[in-house]
Amino acid sequence: MEVKEEKAGLRVPFIAGNWKMNKTIAEAKKLAAEITKSAFNLEGAEIVLCPPFTALYEVAKTIEGSSIQLGAQDIFWENGGAFTGEISGSLLRDVGCQYVIVGHSERRQIIGENDWIINRKVKAALRNQLLPILCLGETLEERQKGLTLTRIKAQLDEALKDVNQDDVSKIIIAYEPVWAIGTGVNATPAQAQEAHHYIRMLLAEKYGQELAACAIILYGGSVKPENASSLAKEADVDGFLVGGASLDHVSFVKIIEKMIEVKGK
Ligand code: PGA
Repeated sequence: MEVKEEKAGLRVPFIAGNWKMNKTIAEAKKLAAEITKSAFNLEGAEIVLCPPFTALYEVAKTIEGSSIQLGAQDIFWENGGAFTGEISGSLLRDVGCQYVIVGHSERRQIIGENDWIINRKVKAALRNQLLPILCLGETLEERQKGLTLTRIKAQLDEALKDVNQDDVSKIIIAYEPVWAIGTGVNATPAQAQEAHHYIRMLLAEKYGQELAACAIILYGGSVKPENASSLAKEADVDGFLVGGASLDHVSFVKIIEKMIEVKGK
């Protein structure tokens, strides 16, 4: 199934910085302030910062009044109660988050999150008016065995199980091949495009052309200023989820600039 392309113009370039388990409160405030300052004149892109939980409050205050938005890196699926160490969607809203990363491969692989957990987290985010940035992608072994698209379909199907069409339309999808994360080896633009196009086609089949054509699909995995333009040139790459390169304001803002240069209006 092909997806009609006339709606592609409606997709606003989207760049999120995933700071992972980095930055003290002081460092996070400094980085957020630097990004806010250098991105001040940039128009035509949605920019989201995802600091660690401990820095969310101060980063929220730092970016206040700018167009930059705040995201968390994880969420628990219950609304509140006796869940030691967990953070609910309502607490994330309270601290100023609009977005939350769900299903990052580091949580799947290191913490052991499975598709069932990720599905519950997607629903918890939506229930709390948080927009999920849903990560999925194959391992190197899966790619070598020719299972890339099979894995993507399984992860997407499971994560979106019993999520209604209206809610699916709010989800940002991040294709992040596990072998490209933090390794310095990015997917080639053609590899990214193949996966993104496939995800859009799956969305079209299940939820209709309109939703698929408007869906924002990010690429993540060793995005740097040097490879941002070539990846952004692919038709179905609508933005980036940036890890390592988002820890430095110069490289992060350069990536945003490249994205706007290629895809901006
Ligand atoms: P990376 O991380 O840019 O450091 O590869 C991306 C991610 O994990 O989201």
